[in-house]
Amino acid sequence: MIITIDGPAAAGKGTLSSALAERYHLAYFDTGMLYRAVGLEMVLSGQNPEDENLAEKAAKELTFSKMMQLSQHPDFRSQVGGTAASKVSALPKVRRALLKMQQDFSLNPVFADGTPANGVVYDGRDTGTVVCPHADIKFFVVASPEVRAKRRFAEFTAKGIDTTFEQVLADLTARDKRDSERSTAPLKPAPDAVLLDTSKMTIQEEIDFAVKIIDKYLEA
Ligand code: DC
Repeated sequence: MIITIDGPAAAGKGTLSSALAERYHLAYFDTGMLYRAVGLEMVLSGQNPEDENLAEKAAKELTFSKMMQLSQHPDFRSQVGGTAASKVSALPKVRRALLKMQQDFSLNPVFADGTPANGVVYDGRDTGTVVCPHADIKFFVVASPEVRAKRRFAEFTAKGIDTTFEQVLADLTARDKRDSERSTAPLKPAPDAVLLDTSKMTIQEEIDFAVKIIDKYLEA
């Protein structure tokens, strides 16, 4: 089974994806990690994340193990990493270079320890539209910018990252604009995606909503 969960940053995709992956014994592929890895690599090597040819080279050389290594860096999940990821993800050559890696994963999905999984939950921006248009079930998760900024700010504060709510909101708004206005694979729901607005939902309500839809699909 392939499930895709797309939507803007901090809408609740990650929590939902991990919960569904665990419940249905599916591998979880956080596709944003690929763009974060390429963006961070550019920043760490002093390169401009908007230089398309250099970013394409970094994307072509990316491996899963290199991505996992970069994910340990403190800036991988910081605003610096998020902004760099958003910039490289707007470059068509980078998206093309990372597409096969994402699509191939569903042919032989495995957990982090290498054991086979029943399928995959993709978490990203274009996984239901470009990466896996043939997915069994697609969700498009949204929440208001204020709610998302509040969640992200709480995450940063818990990790001891020094920032303000206003800064987080401004950063998310800029990323939303870049993600939805880019020419290649802009952020938008697949026509057959189920829309899920989590602004007023608890995590449990969000999971219950998705589980109901998936169980119905599995029973059919
Ligand atoms: O989900 P995230 O915040 O880790 O994603 C980081 C950036 O990567 C985000 O600004 C948009 C981009 N991205 C993308 O363009 N396509 C994906 N499938 C996943 C992420």
